[in-house]
Amino acid sequence: MQALVLAGGEGTRLRPLTTTVPKPVLPLANRPFITYMVEWLASHGFDEVVIACGFLADDVRRVLGDGKWNGTRIRYVQEPEPRGTAGAVRFAVAEGLLEGRFAVLNGDILTDFDMSALCRAHERKGARATIALIEVEDPSAYGLVMRDADGLVTEFLEKPTEKPQGGAFVNAGAYVLEREVIDLVPDGRPVSLEREVFPQLVGNGLCGCPVQGYWLDIGTPERYLDATRHLLEQHSPDLVLVGDGCEVAPGARLGPVAVLGDRCRVEAGAVLERAVLFEGARVEREAIVRDSIVGKDAVVGAGSRLERETIVGHGARVAPGATLAGARVEG
Ligand code: GDD
Ligand code: MG
Repeated sequence: MQALVLAGGEGTRLRPLTTTVPKPVLPLANRPFITYMVEWLASHGFDEVVIACGFLADDVRRVLGDGKWNGTRIRYVQEPEPRGTAGAVRFAVAEGLLEGRFAVLNGDILTDFDMSALCRAHERKGARATIALIEVEDPSAYGLVMRDADGLVTEFLEKPTEKPQGGAFVNAGAYVLEREVIDLVPDGRPVSLEREVFPQLVGNGLCGCPVQGYWLDIGTPERYLDATRHLLEQHSPDLVLVGDGCEVAPGARLGPVAVLGDRCRVEAGAVLERAVLFEGARVEREAIVRDSIVGKDAVVGAGSRLERETIVGHGARVAPGATLAGARVEG
């Protein structure tokens, strides 16, 4: 079976990191994010993955290359301009890249749920479209999905403003679709699956299927850092990951949760806690980087203090002694 990964968004909530590096290519625990998705799909029997890129498409191509990546066939489709989540699928179908039944994934989910089980549930129900569902406390950043006892979707509400009582099931950004669903997508303008197509399919073959396991959308700084912790918990017991060619001064304190890309430098007295440095970044002496992300080749000046999900853009410089909270520093 084929999977289409939607990878054409602009990643606005991770700017300025995503101004020049597309979200699917951003490193997560020192690996381009999209590689986790392709591996996960391959482990559930998808032998071909089509990547729908738009924004900074060439960078996405460079990561996975043309042809096969670790045994999975990779193809690309590039919209002439952003067509929205449904428009991108329609475009891929029109270009002849998808056939019959296929899966569609948001390109920013880190997950291990059983995607093949979702395909089986779809088939069993004879659905036209099946949405994977995850339970969250607060659905406001997601697509809220209500279902009846048979698992048929009774309402799909993207980014709801009112919070239902208790937990809620939301769209996990993973679907199985029949080809005919795409005939509902109008041509010639951007169309959203979540805002137009799914609401239209309610009562018309749209199923929701709760899935189990780890799931996170990495599209905000907070969730990007949470996903980093999750990966470190699996592979680095001390919750620290240091890339090749880094220099860490003896008096520096790393972790819990610190990732250094290749060739980073951390000077004496610096503190990195729930912090990610992209390759070539430098944290000067006595600086504190907490709950923050530092872009490629950026410099955090001596004695400065970064916290509350500050993002320092690629090549940017934070002045010595500066105090930043929730800031965005352009490169
Ligand atoms: N090719 C293409 N073209 N891809 C696009 C476009 C487009 O015009 N617009 C968005 N995408 C891609 C993004 O790159 C991303 O991978 C995915 O579609 C979803 O877009 P986000 O911007 O990340 O949406 P979101 O996180 O606010 O909400 C979506 O994901 C939630 C789960 O993580 C929705 O699908 C929600 O319903 C869902 O709950
Ligand atoms: Mg997202």
